[in-house]
Amino acid sequence: MTDVCAAAGQPRTYLMCPPEHFAVEYAINPWMNPQLPVDTELAVKQWEGLRETLTGIGHQVRLLPARVDLPDMVYAANGAFSVDRTVFGARFTYPQRAAEAIAHREFYEELGWRYVRPTETNEGEGDFTYLPGAYGGTILAGYGFRTDPDAHRRLQETLSRPVVSLRLVDPHFYHLDTALAALDDETVAYYPQAFSPASQRVLRQLFPGAVIADRSDALAFGLNLISDGRHVVVNSEATGMADKLATAGYQPLPVEFTELHKGGGSVKCCVAELRG
Ligand code: ARG
Repeated sequence: MTDVCAAAGQPRTYLMCPPEHFAVEYAINPWMNPQLPVDTELAVKQWEGLRETLTGIGHQVRLLPARVDLPDMVYAANGAFSVDRTVFGARFTYPQRAAEAIAHREFYEELGWRYVRPTETNEGEGDFTYLPGAYGGTILAGYGFRTDPDAHRRLQETLSRPVVSLRLVDPHFYHLDTALAALDDETVAYYPQAFSPASQRVLRQLFPGAVIADRSDALAFGLNLISDGRHVVVNSEATGMADKLATAGYQPLPVEFTELHKGGGSVKCCVAELRG
């Protein structure tokens, strides 16, 4: 570990948005079925469980107020991507979510961070992951379903960190954070088959020590996790992934998250890290 790395388990600050108005009213990914009922009360309860788990291990959670007309706003990871108080704003693929970006922008402007307005489609931390300890600070960026690869180039110019473009090929894993997770400042876990053969090779070359997930781990949203380098918060259905993480030396903290899976996301989708 180099000195740019945050120590494992150190307090972090996250942004979350309560699922008071969560619903599946449209289908923009293979997980969403507007015909299936959603228990919003249960979604709120499970989301509270996630928030309490994060604060219980010493992290700070800031809240973004939910909006009644934005049923996917609970997936706060998609609203922006920040490193060193510079915020790369999101521009959503689907019109149903477009207004979420404005709510996030207002939050960051109030915080006084530098907000860079997006010019290309990108879904924030859904498709961008930051590894401060990998090669002096590296951003992994997904494309293929949501984020425009031109946004990757602009992100590199904006944040002055190398951006590694990775092509996603399986519609079930339409965001990078459904297929790959940062476990600490330099280590990742991922499901290889979610990526093109060339991107798999890039990942093998950059991360020979990665934790490798299988299809059942990924389908259980086992990679959609939040790690502080020691504790790994992961949904309780992803038992195979929890075992692999424990074997790799991390401490899995399972949380029930069934309701929010109906929108096509799990714990990581509901959290954006504020990197100040
Ligand atoms: N229903 C949302 C969508 O399809 C889910 C977003 C999940 N977020 C994530 N970071 N993977 O846009």
